[in-house]
Amino acid sequence: MRELYVLMLSLHGLIRGKDLDLGRDADTGGQILYVVELARALARQRQVGKVDLLTRRIEDPAVPADYARSEEMLGDHARIIRLRCGPRRYLRKESLWPYLDQMVDRVLLFLREQKRLPDVIHSHYADAGYVGMQLSQLLGIPQIHTGHSLGRSKQQRLLAQGRKPQALERQFSFHRRIAAEESILQHASLIITSTPQESTEQYGLYTNYQPERAVVISPGTDISRFAPPSRHLSPEPEVARLIDRFLMRPRKPLILSICRPEMRKNLGALVAAFGCSPALQEQANLAIVAGNRDDIRKLDAAQTEVMTNLLLDIDLYDLWGKIALPKQHKSSDVAGLYRLAAQRRGIFVNPALTEPFGLTLIEAAASGLPIVATEDGGPRDIIAHCKNGVLVNPLDIKAIAGAMEHALAEPRRWQRWARNGITGVRNHYTWDAHVKKYLHVLSRLLHHERKQIRRDMAIYRRPQRNPLPLVSQMLVSDIDNTLLGDRAALRRFLTALRATPPNLGFGIATGRTLESALKILKEWGVPLPDILITAVGSEINYGSELHPDIGWRNLIRYLWRRDAVEEALREVPGLILQSPENQREFKLSYNVDPDVLPPISKIRALLREQNLYAHLIYSRQAYLDILPLRASKGRAIRYLAYKWGLPLRAFLVAGDSGNDHEMLVGDTLGVVVANHSPELASLRGNEQIYFADARYADGIAEGMAHYAFGIPTLETANDAKA
Ligand code: GLC
Ligand code: MG
Repeated sequence: MRELYVLMLSLHGLIRGKDLDLGRDADTGGQILYVVELARALARQRQVGKVDLLTRRIEDPAVPADYARSEEMLGDHARIIRLRCGPRRYLRKESLWPYLDQMVDRVLLFLREQKRLPDVIHSHYADAGYVGMQLSQLLGIPQIHTGHSLGRSKQQRLLAQGRKPQALERQFSFHRRIAAEESILQHASLIITSTPQESTEQYGLYTNYQPERAVVISPGTDISRFAPPSRHLSPEPEVARLIDRFLMRPRKPLILSICRPEMRKNLGALVAAFGCSPALQEQANLAIVAGNRDDIRKLDAAQTEVMTNLLLDIDLYDLWGKIALPKQHKSSDVAGLYRLAAQRRGIFVNPALTEPFGLTLIEAAASGLPIVATEDGGPRDIIAHCKNGVLVNPLDIKAIAGAMEHALAEPRRWQRWARNGITGVRNHYTWDAHVKKYLHVLSRLLHHERKQIRRDMAIYRRPQRNPLPLVSQMLVSDIDNTLLGDRAALRRFLTALRATPPNLGFGIATGRTLESALKILKEWGVPLPDILITAVGSEINYGSELHPDIGWRNLIRYLWRRDAVEEALREVPGLILQSPENQREFKLSYNVDPDVLPPISKIRALLREQNLYAHLIYSRQAYLDILPLRASKGRAIRYLAYKWGLPLRAFLVAGDSGNDHEMLVGDTLGVVVANHSPELASLRGNEQIYFADARYADGIAEGMAHYAFGIPTLETANDAKA
């Protein structure tokens, strides 16, 4: 029953219920609570076996010690896992970008230790989305993404405030963030948004947004604090005192509004509506709880303006004794304020000019207080779900007054709305309601994806093989003159390969481009490898979807100036550029005339003189490949070992020529086939390089037998059972 394993990713430091960025960062203030509550609520569901919420570990005296804890339980089936990534100190989220590729690797190692892959990866915010997307591609696991806030909307907002584009870029790295968001939207199977408005207006700004992949599931609210007043108890006296000291006749129904004093909240319209309607003033009092203040003149300019106008309007309509405007309140008073208004048969009003979500409306509803709210995204949903009030046009003062009169008019209707709000919130806005909808869409998604994956497997006939993070041995072979060259030998080799245990992975490493490698493998009837290292190690791709390893590209890009290198080598005798289809972003290849070519060391020196950094690889006295400093087949294998958590001794590599040299030396188990070219002869006598007597693919099989590689051992047999 409990079988689902959900991996959640959220990279801003997480401690339980608290967020390091909270207060400093309006962007993701609510995100942390959201993610932690979602993890907890998911783990409470019967079908969910395990929820791991992965984040960055922070060891910094400036932040609470909890951020450094590597594991923290969130109930029985959920936990926060903190992985080291980048520097140990706290980093603003905008500064995390350079470390995200490393996070991918750390998560892969973590998953390897779990001995089980998640069913789904759910990422939160652009940075985790970038990591989640790579994991999803590498592992073939569907990705769900929640943006929480989007780069394009934020950028537009700040530009509209007159900020300079370059300064914004320096502070917020919008360029990287938006590029990441675009690719996430293209890849993710499902995008979860909080409101329909967020879908259309914010995600709508993105080229790759696909509305059919977005679902609106409003976040849950913690309603444990917000409950209706109990019948027998009188109002909480402290809360009543906050309000009643302003009022001549405090027992009348109370119209309540709670919000920050911002222009957008449109409080002036509320006061005007109340002020214009003698009937309303007769029937009810108005309370506006608009934050805390000492001196209105010392608030920020926009808030000072809002508060000053409120006071002037109260005086204009002469509402003294009918309106309460408490100066200070505690956040613990808020729940009591809703209850007070509910007890007095009042209503809650939110007349904001725009309201994408409207948390206070949900709190009011949970407290049994009917609502009058602006006709915008959030309230529209809430009223559709709860049927606990009316929508109004926030620009129409008469309409606002009319709606309030209507809501207060009939006791039976008031009762019905109060009850509807309480049950509506329970059914639609709690975390349990949230995860029920969530699991519903997830199960549809997984059903669909499983079919898809089975189809992919069928094409490449690699059933009964472990996914990459769960393999414990990798066989990597060169293509030309090693794997291929002798059809009968290849046939024998492939039969042997099929008989190896499922924890053995198979890869190729070649000087060919990806396209050319795929073509020749197909011609020779070789099944698609799990890993393709191509273009002499400058590119790595995985599996049937051929997903590129983005981390590798970013790693080898270092100091690479392809055009300058090409320019510097223009005059060197004996170097003839290979045809365009052999040239790649990270591989510059020449055919060689060995009779006139200067020694390779001379060419190296020439590049160094010009401050150009590159890796030169000479093969078969016929080819010279120039790669970025960090790229080669050998380095690619070392990178893979690190990334997938395998020791180098778990790699058996087979080759025949110069560009195989680097992957043969070192801790890997090396096999040189008998038909090798002369430049490898110098490797003879190396302890971990076996020179086979057999040629071509027979040589590989001979090498495997020599090392007893790919033969089920006790350990691998156990792995296969688990
Ligand atoms: C393959 C590639 C070529 C490369 C050579 C040596 O033949 O097609 O571009 O130079 O291998 O690595
Ligand atoms: Mg070869």
